[in-house]
Amino acid sequence: MSNEKKTVAVLGAGTMGSGIATVMARAGHRTLLFDIDDANLQRGVDTVHGFVDKSIKLGKLDAEAGQGAKDALSGTTALSDLSACDVVVEAVFEDLALKKDLFGELDGIVSESTLFHTNTSTLSVTGIASGSTKPERVVGTHYCNPAPLMKLVEVADGRHTAEWAHKATIEFLSSLGKTSVVTKDRPGFIVNRFLIPWENSCIAALDAGVATTEEIDAAVLGSIGHPMGPFRLLDIVGMDIHQQVAMRLYEQLRDPKFFPPPMVERMVAAGDLGRKTGRGFYEYDDTRLFGS
Ligand SMILES: NC(=O)c1ccc[n+]([C@@H]2O[C@H](COP(=O)([O-])OP(=O)(O)OC[C@H]3O[C@@H](n4cnc5c(N)ncnc54)[C@H](O)[C@@H]3O)[C@@H](O)[C@H]2O)c1
Repeated sequence: MSNEKKTVAVLGAGTMGSGIATVMARAGHRTLLFDIDDANLQRGVDTVHGFVDKSIKLGKLDAEAGQGAKDALSGTTALSDLSACDVVVEAVFEDLALKKDLFGELDGIVSESTLFHTNTSTLSVTGIASGSTKPERVVGTHYCNPAPLMKLVEVADGRHTAEWAHKATIEFLSSLGKTSVVTKDRPGFIVNRFLIPWENSCIAALDAGVATTEEIDAAVLGSIGHPMGPFRLLDIVGMDIHQQVAMRLYEQLRDPKFFPPPMVERMVAAGDLGRKTGRGFYEYDDTRLFGS
């Protein structure tokens, strides 16, 4: 796959979908953001625009390129609008049947050569690919959050992924300025194997009263050199998503370090999910998903 401008569809306009759509639009690809929920779609588009505007304001993107990125993006709730796509990146809810069904439906809409990428965190790429009549075109591409800022994408082939699809995926990610690390199709790939237990430890330390949210974030920034503290990151990830990913990994790996501390359940029950609800570990005036 060459580096010419492509038509890319991103399925799901949530935290990851809007981040991945930002990456695609910024790279100049015609980007279609698809969601079944009108309000979520609008918030996703607003999040991309907000991120681009902030990048211009900070001098990280010139105004013309920023306008180009905004013009390259459009939102839709009709799957049939995706017929001309060269690449589809799936970032809908972490639900196997949902992801399989979407790929199965898209088989009848897009061309034979369209690549199907899944951003699943915990499901098997092979399992998701089994929803498509062409599992050879399905590749796992696990973006880090926030996707427009983080360079790494983990790439995992399913059992039936074809060599052409794998190669085209690596080339495509490289054209986006991303760094690919290849991993096996295993629960949590590489990063979530250590990130989730570490985040759980930070939450447990907070719940035990070791220090405040701000103090733990500051300690992490000043010691192990992460670009943001665990609670700022978890507020972008979403506590619902953290809980789901941690539980799925716990269920599959049966290792207690993945089990989310009780504070996670309390925050989810209270609706304190992070930026998407305006309150998580911190409070936010603006519920765009990242970047503001
Ligand atoms: N949040 C993270 O930090 C993170 C990081 C890496 C990967 N992931 C993975 O990315 C995926 C999305 O996670 P998220 O955090 O963006 O979730 P999210 O809840 O923020 O967004 C999911 C979006 O999918 C939409 N959706 C649901 N069903 C749909 C359908 N049938 N068609 C189209 N859209 C539909 C929802 O309306 C919602 O807007 C999941 O597989 C998750 O495991 C999440």
